[in-house]
Amino acid sequence: MKFFIDTANLAQIKEAHDLGVLDGVTTNPSLMAKEGIKGEAAIIKHYEDICEIVDGDVSAEVLSTDFKSIIEEGKKLAAIHPNIVVKVPMIKDGVKAIKWFTDNGIRTNCTLVFSAGQAILAAKAGAAYVSPFIGRIDDTNWDGVELIAQIAQIYSLQGFKTEILAASIRSALHIVKCAEVGADVCTCPLDSILGLLKHPLTDIGLAKFLEDAKKM
Ligand code: E4P
Repeated sequence: MKFFIDTANLAQIKEAHDLGVLDGVTTNPSLMAKEGIKGEAAIIKHYEDICEIVDGDVSAEVLSTDFKSIIEEGKKLAAIHPNIVVKVPMIKDGVKAIKWFTDNGIRTNCTLVFSAGQAILAAKAGAAYVSPFIGRIDDTNWDGVELIAQIAQIYSLQGFKTEILAASIRSALHIVKCAEVGADVCTCPLDSILGLLKHPLTDIGLAKFLEDAKKM
C-alpha cells in the first residue's frame, strides 16, 4: 500500500518525505486555502514546490464544475509537472471530463466518492485513482472502511485498474484497517502517519534496553 500525505503544508510534506515512506501528496481547495494560497500564479507555484519535494503523484484539484472549464483547468494543472494528477469531483461533468482526460493521456483522481456505485463509474471512466472519503462516512454513522472493502472486492472481481485511494483518514487505526481490506493508497494527515509509530511497549522496552546498556 502506498502512503500519500493529505496536506498542502510544505513543512509537513517535507517531514513525511524525510521519514522515507512517502509516495505522493493529495491536496484539495480547503487544504490550499488553509495555507493562504490565492490566485492562479500562486497555485501553480505551490504545486511546483510540492513536486520538488516529493517524487510521486501529486493530486491537484480543479475548481470548475462544467465539462469545458474542467478540461481547460485540468490541462493547465497537468502541464505543471508530469507527476500532477488532476483531481475531479464525482459529478456528471466530472465523469465526462475523467473520460476525456483518460483518452488524452492525463491521469485523474476522482474525488468526493461516497458509494460503490460512484466508484464503479469512476473506474469505467478510467480514473487512475478513486477517493472514497472514509472519515466523512464515519461521521454519518456508516462504516467508511466497509466501503473500501466493497470497492476492493468489486474492482478485483471486475478487473478494474483504478487504484483505491482511501481519503479523509482520521487515525492510524484507519490506515491499518484500510490496509487490511485492500486499499492501494492511504492519503493521511501527518499525525496519522506518525501515529503508526506509537506503542507503549516499544517505549518501555527501549527505556529498559538503554538502562541495561549502561551495564555493558
Ligand atoms: C483527499 O483527497 C481529500 O480531499 C481529503 O482526504 C478529505 O479529508 P477531510 O474529510 O479530512 O477533509
